[in-house]
Amino acid sequence: MKRTVIRGTGRALPSRLVTNDDLTKIMDTTDEWIRQRTGIEQRYWIPEGEEVGASDLGLEAAQKALDKAGWAAEDLDFIIFATLSPDITFPGAGCLLQAKLGLNSTPVLDIRQQCTGFLYGMATADAYIKTGLAGKVLVVGAEVHSTGLDKSTRGRDITVIFGDGAGAVCVEGIETDENVGVIASSLHADGTAADSLMLELPASRLPDRLPPDVAVDDPRYYPSMDGKKVFKKAVRKLPEVTKEVLVKAQVPLEDIDMFFPHQANLRINQAYAHFMKIDESKVFNNIQKYGNTTAASIPIALDEAMEQNLVGKKDDTILFLGLGAGLTWGGLLYRFA
Ligand code: UT7
Repeated sequence: MKRTVIRGTGRALPSRLVTNDDLTKIMDTTDEWIRQRTGIEQRYWIPEGEEVGASDLGLEAAQKALDKAGWAAEDLDFIIFATLSPDITFPGAGCLLQAKLGLNSTPVLDIRQQCTGFLYGMATADAYIKTGLAGKVLVVGAEVHSTGLDKSTRGRDITVIFGDGAGAVCVEGIETDENVGVIASSLHADGTAADSLMLELPASRLPDRLPPDVAVDDPRYYPSMDGKKVFKKAVRKLPEVTKEVLVKAQVPLEDIDMFFPHQANLRINQAYAHFMKIDESKVFNNIQKYGNTTAASIPIALDEAMEQNLVGKKDDTILFLGLGAGLTWGGLLYRFA
């Protein structure tokens, strides 16, 4: 039976370290508020004044993942790129990454599922592999948030959360009778809650995409979030989707060696551990260092955990989880081959 296994992972963080104290110099916030409410201590933003897009961070992460897999870019059958912050409005960042990898005909798919983007990307890669449409797939999650945030006190609830970064995973189809690789996934979306986390302008639905009567610093040019609503949704949906994936996989909760939830808020992940009655040491968190890197957060976490030898041994079983704008959410169970 065909199974989708991970062959290499990589991550890229920009060089500019921004601490909570740095943010207190530009807006009315405190290190204490940010740590207590989110767990975040610092994040990385692209260097001021430099042109760095999601595809540039994605390229660095992809090259590391390809090196670990021992693959050349030419070996890839398919590239999937998840981001909510593409370099330009169109074409998608995946095409830009493909060109930077020195390719000019490999198919590319851009995914717009925000914090769940990597999960949608992995599930799609798995489907392509299992149906024989592709053998070797690169899945990338990458974000450059920092150039689009409201860095005044008005935008503090969102700006303190987001960090820039990229993560990449090389996956391959293998023939095996063992129950390894991507075992099950479950994806969801609720478009009726689209306005609880969104970036409204520019908007093609308007008579003028850049409305002439709207100032360039209008709040609608920056992301907006109903934080409490999204928080509550995450605390409810992440356990729910965990159960769904485990039922599909016919794997008990106790078999999971490590949980990789999206890094949106440390309190969400602690509440998840509490609700699921699992030891917090089994939930991988690195939001303290990187903030919320949206589509990049899960592959960055995986790369870091594998580097630290926390997971990666044969039969290690891990669960990826995420919820974010859309709203979208999902889970994916993976067992190392
Ligand atoms: O990755 C995508 C999915 N996103 C999420 O999962 C995010 C989920 N939501 C959250 O993580 C939390 O809701 C936040 C961290 C965004 C906000 O935490 P909260 O505990 O829900 O705070 P709040 O928005 O209710 O604000 C509480 C107070 C307000 O002041 P008043 O009205 O009580 O006087 C805010 O103005 O905190 C104030 N505040 C801040 N104070 C200092 C908001 N942001 C800040 C800030 N620094 N950065």
